[in-house]
Amino acid sequence: SQDGLKICCIGAGYVGGPTMSMIALKCPEVQVKIVDISAARIDAWNSDNLPIYEPGLHKVVTACRGKNLFFSTDIDEAIQEADIIFVAVNTPTKKVGIGAGRASDLTYWELAARRIAQVAETPKIVVEKSTVPIKTAEAISAVLHGAGKTRFDVLSNPEFLAEGTAITDLDNPDRVLIGGQLDESGQKAMDTLADVYAHWVPRDRILLTNVWSSELSKLVANSFLAQRVSSINAISAVCEASGADVDEVARAVGMDTRIGPKFLKASVGFGGSCFQKDILNLVYLCESFGLPEVAHYFHQVVHMNDYQKERFVGRIIHGLYNTVTGKKIALLGFAFKKDTGDTRESASIDVCRRLIEEKAQVAIYDPKVEEEQVWMDLTYACKMDKTEVQKYVTLCPDALTACKDAHAMAVATEWDEFKELDFHQVYDTMTKPSFVFDGRNILDHATLREIGFVVYAIGKPLDPKLSTA
Ligand code: NAD
Ligand code: UDX
Repeated sequence: SQDGLKICCIGAGYVGGPTMSMIALKCPEVQVKIVDISAARIDAWNSDNLPIYEPGLHKVVTACRGKNLFFSTDIDEAIQEADIIFVAVNTPTKKVGIGAGRASDLTYWELAARRIAQVAETPKIVVEKSTVPIKTAEAISAVLHGAGKTRFDVLSNPEFLAEGTAITDLDNPDRVLIGGQLDESGQKAMDTLADVYAHWVPRDRILLTNVWSSELSKLVANSFLAQRVSSINAISAVCEASGADVDEVARAVGMDTRIGPKFLKASVGFGGSCFQKDILNLVYLCESFGLPEVAHYFHQVVHMNDYQKERFVGRIIHGLYNTVTGKKIALLGFAFKKDTGDTRESASIDVCRRLIEEKAQVAIYDPKVEEEQVWMDLTYACKMDKTEVQKYVTLCPDALTACKDAHAMAVATEWDEFKELDFHQVYDTMTKPSFVFDGRNILDHATLREIGFVVYAIGKPLDPKLSTA
């Protein structure tokens, strides 16, 4: 038991919120406090309307909130009280300066570390939960010890949860990775953190490594996962050229136990806040280590993803007889995957931007994404103001409204409800010929063709009625 242990987490986002709520649930004798500079986010965590949508999250939060789980903007107090301080702030790709477009922006991390150094009076275990470049722990340790008045043990404890399944991932993780200094104090810190997870994670799944291995493993895990998606997406182009079916190929290849079946679903392209950012970060690190061949190798994963998104848009434009100007296109799904309202790096954003460039009329429907988020993403991606974007884009309350009078429906997110649509009704309301571009291969293409649709799907034998010239 870790009676009286106090944990604080700086950053109440997609990672900080769910991970700390799970710790609170599994360790009732431990006090967990999550703090953030954003008062709006903290207010939302304290309300019934949580700031992120994640299946099962609400139940976990309400089971602990006010008992051993607290959300607050009083960062200093939380730091002072805590024995363990997790830092789960955002570490986006740098937009300007050295390494722009590739390196991680560690501004938020360093600000958090400086705050810890400034206010901590008793020894702390500081845990990197954010995904960071290798050697960040060293830099953070220097900042903490340079400016601080007490002892700090810095651990790396990357998070492997995926959005949409965060709660089940946290409840039953494949592994928990903890990296630390191999001296006595570092070892003790690692043991303390391992004991927290051991409340529910079997000991043999808690890996203790040196700090650099831990930091690097996170970047490698995401790079490998993204690489699998880019590999199957590359093959989807070969399938379309040859008449093979990418889902059949993925099944046949994935049944080899050495390869495995997961992450072989061809799609319009991967999105999410992590994959691209973490690969680019690895690429940047390799370049700075003087390893251009390694950098190039992984960079290709991102290039392939961009190619796949562009290929999908190309299929729409060619399919609609080489012009979409003024044509209504229903874009179903704006989140980067199902069961989340998160749109960061969503393939939908790029697809929509390209359709706007071609002067199409895009009607968007997503079951979870907030309207304001769509406008923010599109104004940024298109470098237009909202009124300009609104000349091309409308947001719809449901899929049927989005499809009314549309020339084409494009599925960009694999939401289950899209499979349940009444496609006879959809067909009746659409302009003829009516096209479906299934960027997720979730629909029943044979049935759609029977109804009368011209159907394009990723990596599937091409519909003879689809124009490709
Ligand atoms: P997020 O943007 O949802 O949350 C970060 C939060 O930190 C924000 O609420 C922000 O207001 C707060 N913050 C920033 N600076 C602060 C400061 N100095 N003091 C207090 N609060 C501060 O980000 P996220 O998606 O939760 O990601 C956090 C980290 O976890 C990133 O490094 C990311 O790469 C990593 N990660 C994310 C996922 C994921 O699925 N989203 C999975 C694994 C790892
Ligand atoms: C990812 C990692 O899976 C997770 O371990 C890490 O902690 C954070 O980054 P996340 O981005 O939330 O998680 O979702 P993930 O399920 O990995 O999907 C990423 C993107 O790849 C999504 O756009 C998804 O639709 C796409 N994808 C995934 C495919 O296109 N095909 C697949 O087979 C799998």
